[in-house]
Amino acid sequence: MDALSARVSVRENFCVEAQPDSCGVVIFGASGDLTHRKLLPSLFHLFRRGLLPPEFFVLGCLSYGDSPSTDDAFRQAVRGSLAANGSAPAEALDAFVGRCSFVPGDYRDPAVYEALGHRGAEQDAARGTDGRRVFYLAVPPTLHEPIVAHLGAASLVREPADGSGWTRVVVEKPFGRDLASAQALSRGLQAVLSERQIYRIDHYLGKETVQNILMFRFANALFEPIWSRDHVDHVQITAAESVGVEHRAGYYDQAGCLRDMFQNHMLQMLSLVAMEPPAAFEDERYRDEKEKLLAAIRPFPSDPTALDQWLVRGQYGAGRSDGSPVPGYRDEPGVAPGSHTETYVALKLLIDNWRWAGVPFYLRSGKRLARKASEIAVTFRRVPHSIFAPLGVDRLEPNVLVLDVQPREGISLTIEAKKPGPKLCMGSLTLRFDYRSVFGEEPPEAYERLLLDVMLGDHTLFVRSDAIDAAWALLTGLLGTWEEGDRCGVGCRLYPYAAGSWGPTEADALLARDGRAWREP
Ligand code: BG6
Repeated sequence: MDALSARVSVRENFCVEAQPDSCGVVIFGASGDLTHRKLLPSLFHLFRRGLLPPEFFVLGCLSYGDSPSTDDAFRQAVRGSLAANGSAPAEALDAFVGRCSFVPGDYRDPAVYEALGHRGAEQDAARGTDGRRVFYLAVPPTLHEPIVAHLGAASLVREPADGSGWTRVVVEKPFGRDLASAQALSRGLQAVLSERQIYRIDHYLGKETVQNILMFRFANALFEPIWSRDHVDHVQITAAESVGVEHRAGYYDQAGCLRDMFQNHMLQMLSLVAMEPPAAFEDERYRDEKEKLLAAIRPFPSDPTALDQWLVRGQYGAGRSDGSPVPGYRDEPGVAPGSHTETYVALKLLIDNWRWAGVPFYLRSGKRLARKASEIAVTFRRVPHSIFAPLGVDRLEPNVLVLDVQPREGISLTIEAKKPGPKLCMGSLTLRFDYRSVFGEEPPEAYERLLLDVMLGDHTLFVRSDAIDAAWALLTGLLGTWEEGDRCGVGCRLYPYAAGSWGPTEADALLARDGRAWREP
């Protein structure tokens, strides 16, 4: 624990904690990676911390090819994944897996939904879960609409008119490929479900440090008065990954970095940093403000030759990661030969409203970068005049406030200070709050909070359809322009960068033109 962190004391003033009503969680795609790496371990942690309802069950839905032969075999697989995620007492594992069972079948076959209805009804009778259900769609996006249509046809998502029960559907990204397909998906879902039943997950919103942006801004009087064009010079938002496409090339090569990271995580983080304060921390008011912010982002120029002032896209070539040689993107298994898919994007955005007029927001994200790091860095304006002659204003570094999203969750503030000694020497020092050393524990997995919120019926950390549309409205034109290839000029080119670097050097020029530089996170 460093000296500063040791002096920080956390006074627990106020905790809001509620336990959901007993319910069942039905997971479509129960043999998949997301289920085994995130969903089941998160449910298990909630269970161990006593945050799940007194009665609950998990019903996995698997396509035939992936199905075990018996519930016991399914439970063994669940147990194996939980054990692989960290040690846990055998009794806790047994108690949890004892509540898991599965239904096999083809998601497009009505018989599956009949079987889900029967199994669910049996569990309701045994556990008093009273028809309350979370349906989690951990499946490829092409299955979202068909599954919801079948759930509707089988009357599995009908809510009693007297408000005595509920059914909720969780949809994983990607929400469409562009504005038109996202709107079509929304119409398909809304034909069966009310908007209140739909929970669109963006797991970044469940990260502790992302949630903390709101507390930081709106529970402290100190920062909000300077959180505007009057004091902020610019903002940088980075989500860097050291991994490549891993085993997801089939999806990623069709999507690319802009769809994979910007339409959702990056723009969501931007909206939290830049939105106006909602009058209350209530889901609709809060989501209204986020949507307003996204809608205020200045559209990219329609002239493609002007795009190079606003963005850089790149693709990694061979290089090194964590000390070992790694292949370039085009040599990864499953990537189309000669693929033009971008694995890196840097954007400059302007927000056309009173608070932010003229303040650039620089966003970048990429795979196979030097290391994993997500952060939001707010750089304040320089002092207007230096009284420390001969040191000029340009020798006094601007203050930078960094919200560290991961992996070193925390907040830091860089200030100028006098170095000890008889001479007048100035230097920058960083005050740092480190989440782990202060709270003494790892921040919980984002999915824990989000799953709990679905059970509690709290939409605050989920994305509303108008915010999805606003994000796609900003990016869809750009995607169309890119598809035209090199004909549209510099802003469409795909710049190579070496795996293990910080991205294409052209991204440095994006900021250098404005007299600024990327921070190294
Ligand atoms: C996912 C993207 O939404 O977020 C992945 O599809 C990416 O490509 C991941 O790796 C990053 O999430 P995190 O929590 O590891 O930063």
